[in-house]
Amino acid sequence: MSPTTGGIPVLEDLPPLSGKKVLLRADYNVPLAEGRAGERVVVDDFRIRATLPTIQWLLAQGAEVTACTHLGRPKGAPDPRYDVAPVRARLAELAPGVSLEQNLRFDPGEEANDPATVQRLIAGFDAYVNDAFGAAHRAHASVVGPPKFLPSAAGRLLQREVEVLGGLLGSPERPFIAVVGGAKVADKLAVLRSLIKKVDTVLVGGGMSYTVRAALGHPIGASLFDASKVEECRELLDGDTEILLPTDMVALSPDGKINFGGHPELEATGSTRVVGRDVPDGWEAIDIGPETRVRYRERILKARTVLWNGPMGAFEDGRFGEGTRSVAEAVSECPGFTVVGGGDSAAALDKFNIAGEIDHVSTGGGASLEFLEKGDLPGLAALRAGRTG
Ligand code: 3PG
Repeated sequence: MSPTTGGIPVLEDLPPLSGKKVLLRADYNVPLAEGRAGERVVVDDFRIRATLPTIQWLLAQGAEVTACTHLGRPKGAPDPRYDVAPVRARLAELAPGVSLEQNLRFDPGEEANDPATVQRLIAGFDAYVNDAFGAAHRAHASVVGPPKFLPSAAGRLLQREVEVLGGLLGSPERPFIAVVGGAKVADKLAVLRSLIKKVDTVLVGGGMSYTVRAALGHPIGASLFDASKVEECRELLDGDTEILLPTDMVALSPDGKINFGGHPELEATGSTRVVGRDVPDGWEAIDIGPETRVRYRERILKARTVLWNGPMGAFEDGRFGEGTRSVAEAVSECPGFTVVGGGDSAAALDKFNIAGEIDHVSTGGGASLEFLEKGDLPGLAALRAGRTG
């Protein structure tokens, strides 16, 4: 058992696997798009490639590997839009010989954690490996069920996520800076509340920052705002941890529209301008401004540990991408230990072509936030309590 995974069994803890059948729970919930001939193709295979070290280890032990995953959110019934065929095709290229079962969520028992679904899943298998960090916050049948019945372990990807993110919650090198962005303040408040107890400074950006600005009494124009969270933001600001907010922002004129990408028929309209702390009536602040970019960059470069989660603006629209680009570049140049939460921040790294310079890019969006907030996840607890032999 690895001492750094908090009691979670790892691959080496499994009994000999030569000739054995292993069920691998992966998180291949990857973005798909339409290919040239109208077929659906995987557009970002990061989550598939991230499981290859585990697959290679299992195959080298002589195991026969069958992977399973959810894909999207079908409502407990087969739905061709969520068929795993495109993922299966990509997996076959990357890991020949490994089979992939149909979308777990076509069975209503998956999300309901139905014992009969667990039995169906494990039938014929000798061991279970969970490498689905991105789904470890879901107490679903394929995540929490098999460890009760089969010798079970975390795969390399899950192991590394727990080691790195757990390390941030343990004794990170200081200064430890969290850069937190994203559109919805409601999604980030819980993790912010827990992070401010661990970090030295929080740099706030993105749509969520305008509710925080409003809590300070600044006019925010037509910027994103969640009235129900103002009080909680005020409490955060009253704490002892240093919280930096943008001092200037790139705003969109009242007649303008953002183009979030993926919809080429939508035009990016309206004009933009840099505004100071107060956003004029009708204008929508969308990205951090040039002065804030410099301030945030300087802080990030001086940090010994950086955790970045959430873009600084709507980076899909080039007019509002500079804040996120500048944070991504600073994180990649920072000589300290750098970690990027999954989801949109990982997509931004990809867009700006800087993924290689970061110490750890998490494969989990919601899972990494929940782990940072609570220090544990249902999928991890299940492995800890489960069988190893
Ligand atoms: C993700 O993409 O964050 C994971 O695959 C979890 O997906 P879910 O939010 O649909 O459970």
